[in-house]
Amino acid sequence: MDDRLQRPLTDLRISVMDRCNFRCPYCMPRATYGEHYRFLAAPERLDFGEIARLARLFAHAGVRRMRLTGGEPLLRTGLPDLVGELSSIDRIDDLALTTNGVLLAQHAAELAAQGLRRVTVSLDTLDPDTFRRMSGGFDGLARVLDGIRAAQEAGLAPVKVNAVIQRGVNDAHAVELARHFRGSGVVVRYIEYMDVGNRNDWKPELVVPSREIRDAIAARYPLRPLPGAHRGEVARRYAYLDGAGEIGFVSSISEPFCGDCTRARLSSDGVFYTCLFATGGLDLRTPLRAGAGDEELLQLIRGAWRRRDDRYSELRRMPLAEAAPRKIEMYYIGG
Ligand code: GTP
Ligand code: 5AD
Ligand code: SF4
Ligand code: SF4
Repeated sequence: MDDRLQRPLTDLRISVMDRCNFRCPYCMPRATYGEHYRFLAAPERLDFGEIARLARLFAHAGVRRMRLTGGEPLLRTGLPDLVGELSSIDRIDDLALTTNGVLLAQHAAELAAQGLRRVTVSLDTLDPDTFRRMSGGFDGLARVLDGIRAAQEAGLAPVKVNAVIQRGVNDAHAVELARHFRGSGVVVRYIEYMDVGNRNDWKPELVVPSREIRDAIAARYPLRPLPGAHRGEVARRYAYLDGAGEIGFVSSISEPFCGDCTRARLSSDGVFYTCLFATGGLDLRTPLRAGAGDEELLQLIRGAWRRRDDRYSELRRMPLAEAAPRKIEMYYIGG
């Protein structure tokens, strides 16, 4: 089943929790997400049965890869139970989790036992002060590194590290991240700072084009490009010439990849979005809770995908235009 731009629906990213225990200024700045911010109430979030039912229908519509995201998905009590349900769905080849890693050490073994394949940990720097700044004031660096180790020990491989790079904030630490994880089996991916949401004060000057980081790393540790693993892969992959593993670059600002975008997103309250930069989505929770049958829900999912013509990152090519207003926030839709 293709959308209007001949892109099939093969990936589903499910946000299971809109809350987060971090306040990264580029995602959930404290000024907005303070004590009085109104997150979803528990009954507004899909329960595990509802998520699993929709996930099965998405698999029926063509989805082969799923990723659990947030906010912070490990804040959702009992998450391994959901992983158990999702991993038993036929035809799903890949089940991954994106987390900030703080709670990972305590859950990695159980997640793996329930069928999770791999994890991606968001970690922007190894410098403690910069970490504190980029996470909104938390001293969690040691726990995140423990989480990465625990995930490796649990066999959630390959463990990936996502580092969002911002000019003048952590760009000077990018090579150090590569050095630290070289040879460990952890794949570091450098992410261009994107204009998602409306509240993160995104400015074009803060974006560091991937090429810059790649050149800095290659000057010290020579690299060679690797072929893509599958259609719709967002990261460009490179291997160290000396065999110390690989790294990746997600360059949605300097080299948008909408042409191959096969990703759907489901928010924690059951809204189906066809683009990370969407301004609106399709509410599946209302029909689900009103007793809609599988066929009716499938029609809704298929209809929305067939109508899809999103290609936000391509439309906003460099030189960088001003970000459009009223987009959905990333903590809510899931990265
Ligand atoms: P793998 O399956 O491990 O390759 O993961 P992934 O490449 O899907 O990447 P991940 O979920 O770790 O996301 C990496 C970065 O790319 C994050 O900052 C995401 O928000 C961003 N990203 C993921 N999908 C999209 C997308 O469809 N569009 C844009 N613009 N960015 C995306
Ligand atoms: N630009 C790029 N990446 C972002 N992420 C969160 N906000 C942004 C942004 N504005 C990353 C997180 C996480 C992934 C899902 O998205 O750090 O690794
Ligand atoms: Fe939380 Fe991830 Fe957003 Fe940081 S980027 S506030 S860890 S959801
Ligand atoms: Fe896909 Fe939208 Fe990202 Fe383009 S901007 S790659 S269409 S999610």
